[in-house]
Amino acid sequence: MTITDAKPIVSTRWALDDGHTLDRYLTTGGYEGLRAALRRPPGQVVEEVKAASLLGRGGAGFPAGVKWGFCPPGVFPRYLVVNGDESEPGTYKDRILMERDPHQLIEGVLIACYAVGLAQAFLYVRGEMALAQERIATALNEAYAAGYIGRNILGSDFSVDVVLHWGAGAYIVGEETALIESLEGSRGMPRLKPPYFPAAIGLYGQPTIVNNVETLSNLPWILSNGGAAFGALGAETSRGTRLFAVSGHVKKPGVFEVEFGVTTFRDLIESQLYGGGIRGGKDLKAFIPGGASAPWFYEEHLDLPLEAGAVGKAGSMLGSGAVVVMDSDTDVVKACHRLVRFFSRESCGKCTPCREGTGWLEKILRRIIEGQGRPSDLAMLLDVSDNISPGIAWPPRQTTICPLGPSAVSPIASALLRFREEFEAYVGGALESSVEVRGAAYGPKRVEVAAT
Ligand SMILES: Cc1cc2nc3c(=O)[nH]c(=O)nc-3n(C[C@H](O)[C@H](O)[C@H](O)COP(=O)(O)O)c2cc1C
Ligand code: SF4
Repeated sequence: MTITDAKPIVSTRWALDDGHTLDRYLTTGGYEGLRAALRRPPGQVVEEVKAASLLGRGGAGFPAGVKWGFCPPGVFPRYLVVNGDESEPGTYKDRILMERDPHQLIEGVLIACYAVGLAQAFLYVRGEMALAQERIATALNEAYAAGYIGRNILGSDFSVDVVLHWGAGAYIVGEETALIESLEGSRGMPRLKPPYFPAAIGLYGQPTIVNNVETLSNLPWILSNGGAAFGALGAETSRGTRLFAVSGHVKKPGVFEVEFGVTTFRDLIESQLYGGGIRGGKDLKAFIPGGASAPWFYEEHLDLPLEAGAVGKAGSMLGSGAVVVMDSDTDVVKACHRLVRFFSRESCGKCTPCREGTGWLEKILRRIIEGQGRPSDLAMLLDVSDNISPGIAWPPRQTTICPLGPSAVSPIASALLRFREEFEAYVGGALESSVEVRGAAYGPKRVEVAAT
């Protein structure tokens, strides 16, 4: 196995009982990254983050330093919105980060605000995460009292306020423009992009940077150790380390920080350091490599490195960092229904293909698993999917405002095309469809994966 010996970056305090307190944070290098940032002009801090090639960890993987540069020059006030809404099935890395090391996140927030000239930061945290809310609230109070947040931070002329906002538990509010709508007090529904790219027109119509909790939590290390040191870790398309939440049929589910590009899916699932192998000594049937919206992977993908480029080429994504493992006993028709039901329930209803289509997909699958399905239902699943995401390709095309609609298509195409005989057994007939499917990971062992 090729497990890296690189030191963790964002999970260093997780094993400490008091890692969430200011006292422990300060005795373990806390707020040194902020001090290092304040010694330089803001532009140099942006350059440091660009040198790190830090990709956003919220799912889309956009470079943080480049995104910061999209704020139109001279337009103020500007805001930072921290995306802590994490709700995708199997995804729970940001929750652990907020519970175990809230000061690291706050320090990252302060560094970003200083670098981009942001006047105020809003921490939007999912409503159900009670412990994370509590720990962040306590940490904010500690940081205000100690002079890390507020007016003239650490004696400088840099001032910023940080507000904690509780979400109400809607998955769609994780989408950045829906999150902004929600913060403004409206119903959480995505806006059209263009024109509403948050960096240009965001919160209250002002330039707004939306960054994920894990993205920002990397900043203290980058400022303390240098962007080049961060960029030296990982692989060409993915620098540094990344948190992966491993769940499903493994012996040791958990969140693990690994170096990009060196560690493979096999390491993550089978190593005793991480998932510990499939429980009950069973075989692997499938795994989802990057959250519920990602096309599924199989045995032949196990030796792929955890790297955005390699995973994208094979037809899926690292997405939200959630690896969900299914063993050989898994009923994939039921698994598929469970995932589609999630997307159907969480659809905000703003656009027709998603509102109606995800509902139809869920109803057809329910009818199939309840024994009422007919052979034509299988073609109908692909037909409806094709209407939501034309060509059933990867990366997906969409007829919808946001990517939630196409997310429901990934489990359908994955399960139905790879395990079509299991669907056919449910409905007592063969799949006959003229819909052309173009996703590289969809279908019976169509992908050749180069050895790593
Ligand atoms: C349906 C949907 C749900 C999303 N949920 C989250 C989420 O819970 N947390 C998150 O950080 N990003 C989520 N995103 C991605 C955000 O829109 C956005 O890209 C991200 O917060 C940007 O931060 P980053 O650049 O640091 O990754 C979601 C996107 C979509 C389409
Ligand atoms: S794709 Fe679905 S969730 Fe996204 S805006 Fe349209 S209806 Fe809402």
